[in-house]
Amino acid sequence: MEIDKKVLRKQMQDRMKELSKPEYEQLSYQIACSLYSTPLWSQAKTIGITVSKAPEADTWQIIRKAWDEGKRVVVPKCIPQSKQMEFRELNSFMDLESVFYGLWEPNPEKTDEVRSEEIDTLIVPGLAYMKNGFRLGFGGGYYDRFLEHYKGRTVSLAFEMQVITRFPVENHDKPVEMIITDQQLWATGDA
Ligand SMILES: Nc1ncnc2c1ncn2[C@@H]1O[C@H](COP(=O)(O)OP(=O)(O)O)[C@@H](O)[C@H]1O
Ligand SMILES: [Mg+2]
Repeated sequence: MEIDKKVLRKQMQDRMKELSKPEYEQLSYQIACSLYSTPLWSQAKTIGITVSKAPEADTWQIIRKAWDEGKRVVVPKCIPQSKQMEFRELNSFMDLESVFYGLWEPNPEKTDEVRSEEIDTLIVPGLAYMKNGFRLGFGGGYYDRFLEHYKGRTVSLAFEMQVITRFPVENHDKPVEMIITDQQLWATGDA
């Protein structure tokens, strides 16, 4: 592998951490507004979305917006033993609990599981993207496993700096359908 994925993940996280708070807020807001302009958003009744942890683009505001619009919000819980994810309906941020790495996940005692077939649009997180929709994740392969069987729409949100020309893609990697950054939005099949 000519470019080490681990090194690339670290480099990208370091670059993202250099965004000032105002930059982070403004760019996250631009990304969110751009998402709201798409049919992937307007047509979705159930949105699958991770609860962001800075310096990833903010999704807390997107969750609030979805609630405002009467959409159902489902958020993932990782099952480390099986490396699978399950999505659970989130109706209050207070139904989240802090798990490993300071990530926020739905508390299983306070939330109900929702089957993947019920998700209309899934917002897929990642650290880096290529124009053709392939993504470098956080290293767990959770979304690659999930996307193997998922049939709904997919979109990723990223800061423009996270779109790079190339990184290693493996057989198990699954591309997303659309990428939205603070500067542009495109369907990856057309890239
Ligand atoms: N569908 C899958 N079935 C089995 N293992 C998988 C699958 N998808 C990913 N993996 C494994 O998960 C690990 C992490 O995948 P990788 O693509 O490097 O991470 P990420 O997508 O989070 O950047 C790899 O060891 C990979 O073999
Ligand atoms: Mg992958």
